[in-house]
Amino acid sequence: RGAAGVRPDLAGRHVLVTAGGTREYLDPVRFLGNASSGRQGYAVARAAVVRGASVTVVAANVALPEVAGARTIPVTSAAQLRDRVHEVAPSADVVVMAAAVADFRPGAPQAYKIKKESAAPGSIPLVANPDVLAELLANRRPRQVLVGFAAETGGPGGGVLDHARAKLARKPVDLLVVNEVGAGLGFEVEHNAAVVLDPRGGETAIEHTSKDLLAHRILDLVVGLTADRTD
Ligand code: CTP
Ligand code: CA
Repeated sequence: RGAAGVRPDLAGRHVLVTAGGTREYLDPVRFLGNASSGRQGYAVARAAVVRGASVTVVAANVALPEVAGARTIPVTSAAQLRDRVHEVAPSADVVVMAAAVADFRPGAPQAYKIKKESAAPGSIPLVANPDVLAELLANRRPRQVLVGFAAETGGPGGGVLDHARAKLARKPVDLLVVNEVGAGLGFEVEHNAAVVLDPRGGETAIEHTSKDLLAHRILDLVVGLTADRTD
């Protein structure tokens, strides 16, 4: 055990974490964004540093102090996040996709600020962004561990876990960290609770706890997976 009382069980591993939320600009000053603060992703990065990993953080619009001991690469849009992730992922043993990546972007961003005097656009045409996690799955290197996050509210089609199980079926990552978001939950808060799903039907509930402790519980599961795999 190291000075902090934490075992360096990720020593020699390269962990890539994406954090924050992407922004998709309509014009030079307006964007479509989301409420992700980057706190959970930064907590995972901090925990991985403490456990001895070499850590790269691709940070989308995170207004928090950088994680000490990690390399931080700032990005704005989903397209930029995708490019940086694909540069770093080939050397990563573990990729944790905690960032909220925009599914769509404005199809025709304007070069100049849209003026109030111009006719109100009745709608904003959007085009689909690539799914970075799906691309990582398709290009996964041997023994690479992929962790996805799913922030769900539930809805008419089913509850939080129904949506999450369907997501895992579509994107069979090694671990899918599910948290319920909505009023007072998940985003912008210091605490979090989660259920971690795996493709073999495993479900690990992690009780309401700090984002730092949740990060360590997630990395415990990651370490369990890397230990299963013979190098
Ligand atoms: N993700 C990604 N690229 C995207 C969208 C999402 O890599 N263009 C990743 C997220 O970082 C997260 C996981 O996919 O780890 C799940 O994201 P989420 O938005 O919950 O799921 P989607 O598959 O986009 O489905 P939906 O938004 O319809 O729930
Ligand atoms: Ca999405």
